[in-house]
Amino acid sequence: MNQNAHEPASLPVPAADALAASADLAARIRDEIATAGGWLPFDRYMELALYTPGLGYYSGGARKFGRRAEDGSDFVTAPELSPLFAQTLARPLAQALQASGTRELMEFGAGTGRLAAGILSALDALGVSLDSYAIVDLSGELRERQRETIEALGGELASRVRWLDALPERFEGIVIGNEVLDAMPVQLYARTGGIWHARGVAVGEAGAFRFEARALDAPAVQLTKEDAALFAELDAEIDPAIDYVAETHAAGAAFARTICAMLKRGAAFFIDYGFPRAEYYHPQRTQGTLMCHYRHRAHDDPFLYPGLQDITAHVEFTRIAEAGVETGADLLGYTSQARFLMNAGVTEVLSEIDPADASRFLPAANAVQKLLSEAEMGELFKVIAFSRGIDGTLDAFARGDRSHTL
Ligand SMILES: C[S@@+](CC[C@H](N)C(=O)[O-])C[C@H]1O[C@@H](n2cnc3c(N)ncnc32)[C@H](O)[C@@H]1O
Repeated sequence: MNQNAHEPASLPVPAADALAASADLAARIRDEIATAGGWLPFDRYMELALYTPGLGYYSGGARKFGRRAEDGSDFVTAPELSPLFAQTLARPLAQALQASGTRELMEFGAGTGRLAAGILSALDALGVSLDSYAIVDLSGELRERQRETIEALGGELASRVRWLDALPERFEGIVIGNEVLDAMPVQLYARTGGIWHARGVAVGEAGAFRFEARALDAPAVQLTKEDAALFAELDAEIDPAIDYVAETHAAGAAFARTICAMLKRGAAFFIDYGFPRAEYYHPQRTQGTLMCHYRHRAHDDPFLYPGLQDITAHVEFTRIAEAGVETGADLLGYTSQARFLMNAGVTEVLSEIDPADASRFLPAANAVQKLLSEAEMGELFKVIAFSRGIDGTLDAFARGDRSHTL
């Protein structure tokens, strides 16, 4: 039995085998908490819940991506929503390949492999040939799904794809990652009664996980100087009488730093939901952005069904921009997904489908509406890109660039 299940009435209950796997993972996490002296920082809990080999959400058997709860999935991403996303994204990628004189792509967190397959086909249709399309994913289970998707592509295009176990020291080409940064473990902090604490994980009654606070100078808390500076800034800006929860993003920043340091020529694009710092740590966002997804329902309990539900936080893009630029890379652009896709020609891509062919056109038009709409993905999702050795900008950032807001 999963001793950890809070089982809110509104969420579907997982199957018995899934609950058993979750109980197994929960037992391992409890062991690690005990070994660590009774408390783990939240980012370590999140890492274990998402990436423990064979049992974590991304590394285990959960279906994850899909359109409906009935198919056993938990959330939908842009590449899963419509092939038009990959077809449109391929255009700025083609421009960046040409501007940098490179012929390689590297995708992080490739999910089911649909984006890779879509980009390979679209670049081929645009007459752009690649030497290789490398995929890096922490999840062995997803690699297998990616392999199946790429095999179905067949022939020449499929032969370009390879999977990397380690990053090269240098890379010349174009990096992409859709919804990868939001899947990186975050640190949680809470200000209560005017005092900041680390909000970590301990084991409570009947083995259930619960939040427990630790002083910032406790040995298990690894406060970074960036986080200390952030809390000082928040104290100056937000009335200390207001209790406030904030996630911070050391793992995402380290990832951006690593990618930009590796990139010797080319560009790196990351697409994700989030905000610049001033908006992220807004006085009214007192509960942070940590969110869980199970069967297309969002809730805020990260201790429910460990390994069976997604745990995610919005991306703090200013921190990502600072980390990338620290390596000497240029900030190529930052804008909303809607603006990026419009600039990249999403309406032209849609117009290639005959409106008289309603069975193709209507779903495509619907998907474009979701990708662009302010009320759906168009405004919440952003695109940030770094470059090295590219002069000028790309068409996709030519209008509505918001780099100045970071
Ligand atoms: C929310 S899913 C997005 C999948 C896919 N890009 C899509 O849009 O459908 C997050 C993906 O990022 C991967 N991931 C997380 N951290 C990673 C890292 N440091 N390196 C590579 N992949 C990572 C996960 O395994 C998973 O495939």
